[in-house]
Amino acid sequence: MATATSISTMKAVRIHSYGGPQVLVEEDAPRPEPSSVEVLMEVHAAGVNPIDWKVREGYAKDWLRHKLPLILGWDISGVIVELGKAVKGFKKGDEVYGKLDSRRDGTYAEYAVSQIENIALKPGTIDHVHAAAVPIAALTAWQSLFDLANLSAGQTALIHAAAGGVGHFAVQFSKWKGAKVIGTASGRNEEFVKKLGADMVIDYTSKKFEDEVSGVDCVLDTQGGEVLNRSLLVLKKGGIVVSTLSEPSADDIARYGVRSSHVLARSDSRQLMQIAELIDAGVVRPVVETVLPLAEARRAHEMSQMGHARGKIVLKIRE
Ligand SMILES: NC(=O)c1ccc[n+]([C@@H]2O[C@H](COP(=O)([O-])OP(=O)(O)OC[C@H]3O[C@@H](n4cnc5c(N)ncnc54)[C@H](OP(=O)(O)O)[C@@H]3O)[C@@H](O)[C@H]2O)c1
Repeated sequence: MATATSISTMKAVRIHSYGGPQVLVEEDAPRPEPSSVEVLMEVHAAGVNPIDWKVREGYAKDWLRHKLPLILGWDISGVIVELGKAVKGFKKGDEVYGKLDSRRDGTYAEYAVSQIENIALKPGTIDHVHAAAVPIAALTAWQSLFDLANLSAGQTALIHAAAGGVGHFAVQFSKWKGAKVIGTASGRNEEFVKKLGADMVIDYTSKKFEDEVSGVDCVLDTQGGEVLNRSLLVLKKGGIVVSTLSEPSADDIARYGVRSSHVLARSDSRQLMQIAELIDAGVVRPVVETVLPLAEARRAHEMSQMGHARGKIVLKIRE
């Protein structure tokens, strides 16, 4: 277990330059102090998401304009240890989870600060490791399916990469809504995706999904490129594809008579509360395939970057 080396420093994994996993360095960093509208949290676990290695590689440098050195990771499950004077609705000792502001230092560290809009009380029935697996992936799935696609009971949803971080929540949320759920995954994940609630799983390594399904109301795309373009073929007229990566061309949208949207996941404490309720009711379960200590952040990135994680990868920072 990592321990703070003094009151004003903490262990953190930071980058001082953009590049491969080797730029991740575990070192002492200043312990952050909460402003009057922020809380200071002990980080118990930090979820690992593809955005983490994309930032590390420098893909987001023009967009997020980070100052280096930077602490990566924006998913947290932890405990509030200090509150700014103006903070209301939380108290010391509260167990919270959330998606922190990705323009600032993140959660691969012993402590992190955040405005309360980014956090909610953690689901009580799961541990910090599982709670840290939730925020970014689940908010992305929720906002894609419900805020952008308005998925409703009786509709059909095609979820690409149904075994991955976003996908495994999307399958469970769609099923809870009463939709018919079709997922794409490789054969090794077929049973896993069925157990999550999918009515049908298409092995993308041996079949073309557009040969297997049609008349779909909503596609959730996490692959972009030709998977996104081929997704237009399975939509019914007026159906919608929501992508985490890009949008099809306006010409293609018009030609197929469909709609499209690009999701950019945002923090939303109200949605985090709703998701926590579903978890505590046993309707939704976060799946964590790999738990690693903070010191193995490089390995976590290598695994995430391979693009075949089942469920989530999480860094466990405190016992
Ligand atoms: N815009 C946003 O706000 C936002 C938010 C979250 C994520 N994202 C992006 O969305 C993407 C997915 O994120 P994630 O966290 O879900 O990633 P992830 O957990 O790393 O996804 C891994 C999954 O992808 C599956 N997969 C790989 N290639 C596939 C293919 N051709 N067809 C179907 N499944 C395939 C793998 O299944 P197999 O092992 O069975 O191949 C694996 O289960 C990333 O690019 C991420 O950066 C964007």
